[in-house]
Amino acid sequence: MTTVTELLQPVEADLEILLSDLRSLIGAGHPILQAAAEHLFSAGGKRLRPGIVLLVSRALSPEGELSPRHRRLAEITEMIHTASLVHDDVVDEAGTRRGVETVHSRFNHRVAVLAGDFLFAQASWHLANLDNLDVVKLLSRVIMDLADGEVKQGLFRYDTGQTFETYLEKSYCKTASLVANSARAAGVLSGCTEPQLESLYHYGRQLGLAFQVVDDILDFTGSEQQLGKPAASDLSSGYLTAPALYALEQNPSLGVLIEREFSNEGDLDEALQIVRQSDAIARTRQLAERFAQESREALSWLPESPSRTALLELPDFVLSRLY
Ligand code: IPE
Ligand code: IPE
Ligand code: MG
Ligand code: MG
Repeated sequence: MTTVTELLQPVEADLEILLSDLRSLIGAGHPILQAAAEHLFSAGGKRLRPGIVLLVSRALSPEGELSPRHRRLAEITEMIHTASLVHDDVVDEAGTRRGVETVHSRFNHRVAVLAGDFLFAQASWHLANLDNLDVVKLLSRVIMDLADGEVKQGLFRYDTGQTFETYLEKSYCKTASLVANSARAAGVLSGCTEPQLESLYHYGRQLGLAFQVVDDILDFTGSEQQLGKPAASDLSSGYLTAPALYALEQNPSLGVLIEREFSNEGDLDEALQIVRQSDAIARTRQLAERFAQESREALSWLPESPSRTALLELPDFVLSRLY
């Protein structure tokens, strides 16, 4: 299997620079918040989102060079992502992330809330300093979508009447919006035409949706060890993702367990069993494959380059996390 490092090879050196730049940007803050942010940055995520921004930027420039503003956009993208994770882990009461303790477990809830705010604020400041109103609009919309997605998810907990549409909207807000809008923003900085910007957005949107759908499968099939974060946690928190929604269509008894919020002993195990043994996982995989395919098709117009090749391989990489 291709690893993420192999895949991001055309921008590997850029991602190293990104990490050290992020550290010095964050270093300007309050020591405790700095420690909290540093804790997560050094745990090392996959850096997929800034990787995509950097690959798009390099793929769009004639000599494959990278401007300081493109670099800064990639940094902002990772800051926003990390901030959303710090807050998401508070909301989900998750104990681990990126294989290490979450910020609220390592420090406390107050620190985690402030550290997340601090990262969002830093991201906004650096965003404004790019001096490009279109880019400001795209990325500030992402921050709105992230908050909206968390609220939507909370409102629909244990709600067996929710539609698949709601689930996809929530997934767009929590995950795909950042990938889509940051890819588009890279195109804006490169002076792309409107149809090109739309296809960059579409690439990111479908890739982001594929990524979230795969993450939702892994929550059922992976282990905490593999994922670096809690497994089997969505259903137990009442978050009904694609596998649960598909299984519900076929097995009404799952609905009974969910509606009583797994209050009887053994309810949760039974529910997990129902989902894992139905064909819901296979159907969800097909959904992810469809999104991945649509994502790949969006970028066929890019000129030949190692960055283009990597971008076109990314959808398959996202799917390969399932195997
Ligand atoms: C986690 O994203 C949040 C989801 C969208 C599922 P990643 O799995 O990309 O997290 P890191 O950045 O690699 O830790
Ligand atoms: C991912 O949603 C999107 C954000 C964290 C904003 P999840 O709630 O599925 O992410 P994990 O599973 O905690 O990484
Ligand atoms: Mg979560
Ligand atoms: Mg998840």
